[in-house]
Amino acid sequence: MKRSVNTVEDKILVLDFGGQYNQLIARRVREQHVYAEIQSYNRITAQEIKAAGYKGVIFTGGPNSVYDAASPHYDPEILQIGVPILGICYGDQLLAYMAGGRVDRAENFSEYGKTTVFFDDDILFRDVPQKGVCWMSHTDFISQPPAGFAVIAHTDQCPCAAMCDPDRKLYGVQFHPEVTHTEYGEQMLANFLFPICGCRADWKMEDFVERSIEKYRGELAGKKVLLALSGGVDSSVAAVLLHKAIGRNLTCVFVDHGLLRKGEGDFVEKTFRDTFGMNLIRVQAEKRFLKRLTGVRDPEEKRKIIGEEFIRVFEDEAKRLGKIHVLAQGTIYPDVVESGKGDSAVIKSHHNVGGLPDVISFEKIVEPLRTLFKDEVRQAGAQLGIPHALVWRQPFPGPGLAVRVIGAVTEEKLALLRDADAIFREEIGAAGLEEETNQYFAVLTDLRSVGVMGDARTYGYTVALRAVTTDDFMTAEWTRLPYDVLERSSNRITNEVTGISRVVFDITSKPPATVEWE
Ligand code: XMP
Repeated sequence: MKRSVNTVEDKILVLDFGGQYNQLIARRVREQHVYAEIQSYNRITAQEIKAAGYKGVIFTGGPNSVYDAASPHYDPEILQIGVPILGICYGDQLLAYMAGGRVDRAENFSEYGKTTVFFDDDILFRDVPQKGVCWMSHTDFISQPPAGFAVIAHTDQCPCAAMCDPDRKLYGVQFHPEVTHTEYGEQMLANFLFPICGCRADWKMEDFVERSIEKYRGELAGKKVLLALSGGVDSSVAAVLLHKAIGRNLTCVFVDHGLLRKGEGDFVEKTFRDTFGMNLIRVQAEKRFLKRLTGVRDPEEKRKIIGEEFIRVFEDEAKRLGKIHVLAQGTIYPDVVESGKGDSAVIKSHHNVGGLPDVISFEKIVEPLRTLFKDEVRQAGAQLGIPHALVWRQPFPGPGLAVRVIGAVTEEKLALLRDADAIFREEIGAAGLEEETNQYFAVLTDLRSVGVMGDARTYGYTVALRAVTTDDFMTAEWTRLPYDVLERSSNRITNEVTGISRVVFDITSKPPATVEWE
């Protein structure tokens, strides 16, 4: 099946050596309006890099030492193809090693964290003061730069904090310019991108949106296209973009699995059918999902069932619709990059609603957002006129409230949770705290406890409130919500939701906890 992608003029390759900041580097480049894409070091050759016309290559950091037998290396031919290179941390050491320099273990000084770096006068440090705080994380260091390279920065401990071979446009920095702890890191990246690589700043969301609409208008002319709309940011933006391109030839199927938050199903239906005038089918499949979830307590089992059932419902709908040529999906760039990674332990199998149906054959799949990071998807959404509430909607797991009702899921428990969650969200909204916390919700624990109301004994469920502050959801802090917001939420939940008699606030960060309870 053919996949269709967008193309732009000037692009940078982020060559991934297993560093934790690979996506961050690409995002930082794109923030400067230069398109960047990530490739694992072992999936592309020097000749392919040259042929693809990259304006520059950034070697990422990585956990290895260049002398480990198993450490990732790269074909030294890359130094000869005339493309500027910036090596970062391990990438810097690898560059030195490949070019014939010497890397040693820093027995007495591993630098970790904020470190003052002294910069020389070099194009890489144009408009950067003579010293600045940079983020370091290394135990190896370059003890002897390769022939043709000059040292252009140092620290009190490290003799070579940056190096360059200006003739071949090869640069290396021991620190991480991409992290916010590095002062002037943005300026250094800009210096690499513009004067060194000669990039144009032509990666702009308005252009992307316009170009994509044009492209799909041509490519999908006369084709019937089907898209699974969840109401989440990604599928919504993909839907509106394609709708602008092909109008009613796009059919959106919104599988309402009955596990959405209060009022959400109606909101999705109203927004897309009434506001955007889309061809939308809302499938009310709550009964089907609940039946399959009966008595299931294990979170992974819930995810599996919901993922499978979703595909079955979607397939049934697609079959009813007759001939459909193309399947559209809201895949975004981190999904593409992450799925190329090796195997790390599965903590949660984040089944996203919208897996691929396997009994229907499509001529092709289109993924209009396949090259975008989440913040870019939001920008595209804003460009397309999607309401703010939807573009900035907090993340909501595909399996929905099923993973927020701890233990077996029933209609009654879902109703309790929906009401409690709506109150909590209302109170956060009323206090104007929506931007202060990145995700906030209620969880219906499986615990019942004794309470007293009036003169009567109650025996109701305990609800947990959760609010987290995070950049990337990989790690998270619990949000320090004001006591009065917590108090109002607690009072209202216990007063207004019969069946809930106790409210607790989750004060665990991630790690060790995860954001969701299941
Ligand atoms: P955890 O609980 O893993 O959550 O710390 C991190 C982020 O992922 C969301 N999440 C999911 N999203 N399907 C999804 O689409 C899932 O099964 C799922 N589980 C967790 C969670 O809401 C948080 O934003």
